[in-house]
Amino acid sequence: MFFEDAVDRFLLIAAREFGLSLPVAGTSWSAFDRLSTIISEKFRTETTSISPEMSAFLFAISQVSKRDGLVGVGTFQGYAFSWLLQDFFESDFTKWNYASAIDTSIDCCILAQKNLNYLNYGARLSIINADGLETLRQHQFPISLLYLDIDDPVSRKSGYADLFSSALPNIVSGGLVLAHDCAVDKFSEDFAKLKDRVVSSKLAKGYLELKFDDCGIAIAAIK
Ligand SMILES: C[S@@+](CC[C@H](N)C(=O)[O-])C[C@H]1O[C@@H](n2cnc3c(N)ncnc32)[C@H](O)[C@@H]1O
Repeated sequence: MFFEDAVDRFLLIAAREFGLSLPVAGTSWSAFDRLSTIISEKFRTETTSISPEMSAFLFAISQVSKRDGLVGVGTFQGYAFSWLLQDFFESDFTKWNYASAIDTSIDCCILAQKNLNYLNYGARLSIINADGLETLRQHQFPISLLYLDIDDPVSRKSGYADLFSSALPNIVSGGLVLAHDCAVDKFSEDFAKLKDRVVSSKLAKGYLELKFDDCGIAIAAIK
């Protein structure tokens, strides 16, 4: 795969910044290839802004995350989320204890459920048709990887900061928060607000924006 070295370099930047341990054998790109086959053959997806590089990065960062729980907010058709979730049988890594994909759109949730069923998580996976903020406020399970990708027609991504704060009490030590689209100019104020919230929480090891494609991804790790 032609961009695997580049993705591994960005993974290394994140690992150094946050003190993450990388797998000795490196990212399992063979498992990535197996997952790519399932997704390209089985998933029904509308347009997506997730680039091939971003898919590979999401896959790679997922493999260095702790496995308590994966939560996605604004999961749309489940496409970005699928690279984090990975296939229950085909993954080379420890499985998630549970995974939740949250979206306000019922149509997106129905499509996400159909798509993500192919990843064999069964009852360990919940697709939740609800507002992300309300759901995170009521959430009571440990989160080790939080993926934010809401896009509200009015408030766009300004909800990222409050989503982060609501999830924070449940994020485990060493847990990661990912927020998609930090390279998009029109969202720069939303990301400034998120960064400010992360830094002022004093519970984060740091905040990093990786802009390796048109969308980019922000990362924070919890102490
Ligand atoms: C446009 S999608 C993200 C797309 C993704 N970047 C991709 O290309 O695959 C944003 C999603 O956020 C959802 N959304 C917006 N506000 C939300 C909220 N408050 N809680 C949960 N989901 C929300 C929308 O229904 C939509 O499915």
